[in-house]
Amino acid sequence: MENENLLAIANEFGSPVYVYDSSKIISQYDRLSDAFKKVKRLKLNYAVKALSNIAILKLMNSLGAGLDTVSVQEVELGLKAGVKPSNIVFTPNGVSLEEIEEVSALGVQINIDNLSILEQFGTKHPNVPVCIRMNPHVMAGGNSKISVGHIDSKFGISIHQIPHILRIVENTGMRINGIHMHTGSDILDIEVFLRACEILFETAMNFKNLDFIDFGSGFKVPYKLGDIETNIEEFGSKMTKRFNTFCKEYGKELTLGFEPGKFLVSEAGYFLAQVNVIKQTTSTVFAGIDSGFNHFIRPMFYNSHHEIINISNPNGRERFYSVVGYICETDTFATNRRVSEINEGDTIAFKNAGAYCFSMSSNYNSRYRPAEVLWHEGKAHLIRKRETFEDLTRNQVDIDVFSKVAETT
Ligand SMILES: Cc1ncc(COP(=O)(O)O)c(C=O)c1O
Repeated sequence: MENENLLAIANEFGSPVYVYDSSKIISQYDRLSDAFKKVKRLKLNYAVKALSNIAILKLMNSLGAGLDTVSVQEVELGLKAGVKPSNIVFTPNGVSLEEIEEVSALGVQINIDNLSILEQFGTKHPNVPVCIRMNPHVMAGGNSKISVGHIDSKFGISIHQIPHILRIVENTGMRINGIHMHTGSDILDIEVFLRACEILFETAMNFKNLDFIDFGSGFKVPYKLGDIETNIEEFGSKMTKRFNTFCKEYGKELTLGFEPGKFLVSEAGYFLAQVNVIKQTTSTVFAGIDSGFNHFIRPMFYNSHHEIINISNPNGRERFYSVVGYICETDTFATNRRVSEINEGDTIAFKNAGAYCFSMSSNYNSRYRPAEVLWHEGKAHLIRKRETFEDLTRNQVDIDVFSKVAETT
């Protein structure tokens, strides 16, 4: 998006505000589909948790994507967006049997990641085919918080427990129609990913009635110029060859599934905020913005890097700034970052703000969550209103028992 478009959106809808460029989401979807065009049956299920606005889910549906969900609420959002239940996969971790049954009753594909629920579900619903999330014991992912396929991770059923799975399948008569893994986000090395895929192929041979194999996600997007990104085209070509050979060995044309979040929406997103205060100290120049980690937690939570542009003064002389939020704890978006000269009142844009940004936002410090805007075919559409005081108090119950205490003291 052009700076002028972003600035016009900040002027029209106020600050802070999230902006998503639909054309980037579409081009990323096309890029991923193209990389696997030689696979006969490909299914891309968008990971709703990355960005769950209904307008985004409708866009994904229009592209032909299914949805990967982790809560019954995400499933309901998908259904509200018009996605067919058969196009939704439910991949929760540690949720109750009741929630899994509720989602299954809607006609959604269930993916189970522990032996206890597998046995309970299989005993009660032997006719509902389920997918199993395996833990391949591979260490992959950009940092420890998003590496989820290793031996100490709580996710998936260990590949060493395949005999247990087979015993449950035999005893309950249930059908396993898919196997799945998700090793982590921001995978740097496709060879590591391909190794994990080999483990899943080996695992698949234990199950005779599969319809699909879901390889999860974790594709790395670039956060700055020259940054490493997953080479999707190379990965697509290697994986396609291997998958097609595997289908021959297996004796059936299976569906190849992925569930990308970041790859589809990260680069499409911008977070716009206004600079309230410039504070020169003996060590740095702080630019304090009208937001904080309540709206945009990734830098504090994951140490993620987000490029910052001063869209009010994009061609100004560059200076170093530490960009900080208004939360009453350490709340740093960037330290000593080179940005074109910032004046109080300027609007700055954080890039790569599409994935895990709004969806992780909160009302901490009793702040309103920002508005969201979709930039589609040259027009800005408001897709979520900024919250109001009403939203902060809506579910609070005023018990009105303290007034008496005040009267007697
Ligand atoms: C099971 C599962 N699938 C897919 C994703 C999406 O990962 P990414 O955003 O890296 O594509 C996640 C992310 O946490 C996940 O937990």
